[in-house]
Amino acid sequence: MINIAKHDIKQLALDYGTPVYVYDKQKIIKNYELLYNSFKKYYDKIKIHYSVKANSNTNILKIFKELESGVDCSSPYEVLLAKYSGFEDEKIIYTGNYESYSDFSTLTDYNIKINLDDISSFRRMHNILTPEIISFRINPGIGKGGYEGITTGGTDAKFGVPYEKASYAYQLAKDNGFKRFGIQMMTGSNNLEPYYFAQSVEKLMMIAGSIFEKIDAKPEYIDIGGGFGIPYEDDEETLNIDLTAKLITEIFQEKCEKYGFGSPELIMEPGRFLVGNAGWLISKVTGVKHSYKHFVGLDSGMGTLLRPALYGAKHRAYVYGKDTPEWNVNLCGQICENSDIFSKNVFLPQIEEGDIVIMSDVGAYGYTMSSNYNNRPRPAEILLDENSVELIRRRENFDDLIRLY
Ligand SMILES: Cc1ncc(COP(=O)(O)O)c(C=O)c1O
Repeated sequence: MINIAKHDIKQLALDYGTPVYVYDKQKIIKNYELLYNSFKKYYDKIKIHYSVKANSNTNILKIFKELESGVDCSSPYEVLLAKYSGFEDEKIIYTGNYESYSDFSTLTDYNIKINLDDISSFRRMHNILTPEIISFRINPGIGKGGYEGITTGGTDAKFGVPYEKASYAYQLAKDNGFKRFGIQMMTGSNNLEPYYFAQSVEKLMMIAGSIFEKIDAKPEYIDIGGGFGIPYEDDEETLNIDLTAKLITEIFQEKCEKYGFGSPELIMEPGRFLVGNAGWLISKVTGVKHSYKHFVGLDSGMGTLLRPALYGAKHRAYVYGKDTPEWNVNLCGQICENSDIFSKNVFLPQIEEGDIVIMSDVGAYGYTMSSNYNNRPRPAEILLDENSVELIRRRENFDDLIRLY
């Protein structure tokens, strides 16, 4: 591997240093258009709200603003970041969990959509703010994700109102004067199976049918969350997004008709699908050790890219300018934890100190999960367009590490 979006990787490493996150603007735009057009073809009232937690660099958020996307925020400060990046209130959804009174106080100035995670959240929120439209995140009793840590529905999930209690939640909201409603779920991330989406949407629609009949109201929006996956390994297939859109919109429209919902907005909150494959991490080999195994150490680590240590997630790795796999190595970082291993037993070309290693598909949940553990500064981020390279966040330095003291 030599280029990313026609830019020479070695030159990028020389110009911006390593480790550095690299994003391809055109790829993000293509991903968005693919998803939007696939759904729009089958149902007119679709809305995409990019999930800010996947990659919250304001320059990335501005790409989504230009595309007229909305955003989904998982914390009050993500809402402030969306405002800072220029999003109008009507384009912002907040989907939190276990928020405090002070979290809700931060939201008082904004007229945004709120998906509440629990009945207790409603009680805390209602003391402080009264959004025009209220929605609950439902746990439909099923969940599926690429790893256990990203399965967010089902009986082990900490998220959502259990569907058995959902009608009570909406009745409570109605009794407290709310007249406009939405409904939401998010049951897992990185799913590559179209029929799972159809199954979970069908479940949500049936739950919605029962709730809104009981409270004699109609949902203005039905938000099916994110979860559209991307392949991280060679043997994984790409999600068939056209089939996914067809199956979801078919069941959605059938149930809307059955329950007399009319044509509510169909909202989705994708993160990974839009930015995941548009990001790479460029690192430099700092040490090669032949111990009981071959270890190749990089100038990045779990503080730079946490997913492998957190979930056992895999990211393909390439060595700049070298193609023939010859060594079975453990690729690791510089952090003092034995879980700081990006991949175990991968076949890579013969590697020397100074070689450049590129990891792919790190555009989602990469930088946003980075930390200063071991007092390593966070890396820089750059954005590539056809004929330009822009530094969109500088590398941290020692002053950044001590600025809060
Ligand atoms: C509420 C909510 N919406 C959207 C997303 C985005 O998920 P994904 O990146 O899988 O599309 C998440 C991710 O965890 C989430 O919790």
